[in-house]
Amino acid sequence: MRVEKQAEALAGRWTEAELDSRAACSSEAIAAMHLNRRRALQSAGSLLGGLGLACVTDPRLRAAQRAGATGADPALADAVSLADLEALAHQRMAPMAWEYVSGGAADELTLRWNREAYERLRLDARVLRDVSHVDTRIELLGRQLAHPILLAPSALHRLAHPEGELATVRGANAAQALMTLSTMSSETLEDVAKASAGPLWFQLYVQKDKGYTAELVQRAEAAGYEALVVTVDTPVDGARNRQQRAKFHLPPGVEMANLRGLKSASGQKLDTEHGVFANILPPLLTWKEIEWLQSLTRLPVLLKGILHPDDARLAAKQGVAGILVSNHGGRNLDTVPATIDALPRVVDAVGSELTVLVDGGVRRGTDVLKALALGARAVLVGRPVFHGLSAGGAEGVTQMLSILRHELEMALALSGRARIADVDRTLLFG
Ligand code: FNR
Ligand code: LAC
Repeated sequence: MRVEKQAEALAGRWTEAELDSRAACSSEAIAAMHLNRRRALQSAGSLLGGLGLACVTDPRLRAAQRAGATGADPALADAVSLADLEALAHQRMAPMAWEYVSGGAADELTLRWNREAYERLRLDARVLRDVSHVDTRIELLGRQLAHPILLAPSALHRLAHPEGELATVRGANAAQALMTLSTMSSETLEDVAKASAGPLWFQLYVQKDKGYTAELVQRAEAAGYEALVVTVDTPVDGARNRQQRAKFHLPPGVEMANLRGLKSASGQKLDTEHGVFANILPPLLTWKEIEWLQSLTRLPVLLKGILHPDDARLAAKQGVAGILVSNHGGRNLDTVPATIDALPRVVDAVGSELTVLVDGGVRRGTDVLKALALGARAVLVGRPVFHGLSAGGAEGVTQMLSILRHELEMALALSGRARIADVDRTLLFG
């Protein structure tokens, strides 16, 4: 109910009609892709939509489409997969930023497993079903979304592009993707909300300073963010050896814009020279603090970083709206399982009570399909956002999301499923 009211208050962002018009176009665009994927993508305007661009009705989207249609960057136009965008980003990103973004914790085993676990899963496709209208729409926390691919919260987008999160949000909007903004964004949450034509969630790192934390929550609520994603898997920094070797620090012009004015635990100026988390993690974050947060806000609360079914059950008992199965992209505790391996037992425990989402290692439309098959309501992508941003600013972000969405549409059609509601565990082989 509460969520529906907020959705009404935010009317003027995407309307159902806009979503419908996109969805209706999908099968034609898929047919075009089958004729000649590359040519179709290029004629669709520098890959901007990758799909259904002729169907774009929203003037904001048309403007974005024009911007992307210039084809001014041939290397970007040639990128047809997320791996291609990653390779381009590697060339374009400053080495220290690259190491920060790509790195995981310790020996990076979990980071690797996040990918390998998706690669091991096989699809059990069916044929001769009516897939002439492929529909990727989902409903999440009372809001209709064009597709189930969201942006995970990540810090400091200015490391990848001078316009930082302002470019990211434009790119996300053009791809009709919901963006989660990090507490550690390099643009303020207010500026990002002003720049956004689509729905936003705010990721919260609870601060030692309770007053400051409460203020952050109130600011997010006032700016129109629709949910609070509380990260619960980071009581301390992980063994970020790659970051350490790269001597990661905030370069000039990059700051944690939301935390201006926040003092460290000892009352001194924040020390962000020695690692991204220095002095800003809460010393104590337990279920009690989650309850306190729920009492502060009207927004639905999601917990990010749950892997164990017992924690999922406690979350359900606590009355949160959802959980995000995440190992922080393999950046915190090395050797915890891949998220796609952890997902099924969490879904079995609480899937009927809570909205369960997953992130970590999603790089292909088939990965999205596998996550949905195992019970996730939607997926979030982390590093690919940096790759798109670094490779091509807002257009690069749109391109990344559009490739992933188009791959999902192809995978749905090719596996004999026309709608997200048709996706379940029977889609997995063995
Ligand atoms: C993150 N992540 C993250 N999570 C969070 O709750 N708050 C944050 O500020 C950040 N910052 C951040 C920065 C960078 C550079 C990365 C790569 C990741 C974790 C993120 O939300 C997500 O869980 C993972 O990135 C998902 O894995 P993939 O998609 O990167 O494989
Ligand atoms: C990271 C933080 C900021 O993963 O969550 O670097």
